[in-house]
Amino acid sequence: MLVAPSVLSADFGNLERDVKAICLAGCDLVHVDVMDGHFVPNLTIGPVVVSAIAKAATKPLDIHLMVQNNTFFVELFAPLKPEFISFHIEEEKHPHRLIQKIRSLGIRPAIVLNPHTPPESIEFLLSDLDMVLVMSVNPGFGGQSFIPNVVEKIKRLKALRDRINPACLIEIDGGVTNANIVMLRDAGVDICVAGSYVFKHTNYQEAIDSLRV
Ligand code: DX5
Ligand code: ZN
Repeated sequence: MLVAPSVLSADFGNLERDVKAICLAGCDLVHVDVMDGHFVPNLTIGPVVVSAIAKAATKPLDIHLMVQNNTFFVELFAPLKPEFISFHIEEEKHPHRLIQKIRSLGIRPAIVLNPHTPPESIEFLLSDLDMVLVMSVNPGFGGQSFIPNVVEKIKRLKALRDRINPACLIEIDGGVTNANIVMLRDAGVDICVAGSYVFKHTNYQEAIDSLRV
C-alpha cells in the first residue's frame, strides 16, 4: 500500500515544516487538495501555496482538483510538475480530451469518482488513465467519516481495471485509518490518502507505517 498524506490537515502556519516532516517520515506522495468554493463548499489553496509545498516536498505531488473549469487549473499547476493531477468526472464534459492534455504536459492523468458515481461511468476512459481516485467521503473537508458502501465500488472498479488496464492504480480518499486499511487493501486499493489520521499523530512515521499493509 502506498501512502499519500493529505496536506489539508497540516498546520498551515507551519506548512514547510509539516511537508518536510511527512516526506522524511517516508510517505510516497504528497496529496494536495485544491478546492474552488464552487464545485465543493470549501476554498483551499492556489498556485502560490502549492508551489511552496512543491519546494518543501522531497516526494512527488498528487494534486486533487475539486474545481469547476478543470482545464484552467491544470494549466495553472502544470509548471509545478506534479506526478498526478486528478479531476472529478462529475465536473468535466470532455474528460478524454483533458486526460490527453494532462499527459501531453508530462503529468500522469487521474479521474476522481464521487461517492455516488459508478465505476462503469469511466469504463471507456480506463485504458487512458494512470489512476482512479475513489472518494470515500463527500469532497470538501478533512476529518469526515468513511462511507462503507464504497468498498463494494472498489471491488467493481478493480474487476474493470484488471480487465482493461491492470497498470492503472486505485487510490482511496476520505476517512482512511488503520481500522479500515486492511479491508481497503483486500478490496483492491493501491494508494491511500490520509489527512486527519496522519496529522493527528505526533509521530508521522508510525502513522504512515500503520497504513502500509
Ligand atoms: C476531502 C479531501 C481529502 C481529505 C481527506 O475532500 O479530498 O483529501 O483531506 O481527509 P481525511 O483523511 O481526514 O478524511
Ligand atoms: Zn483529496
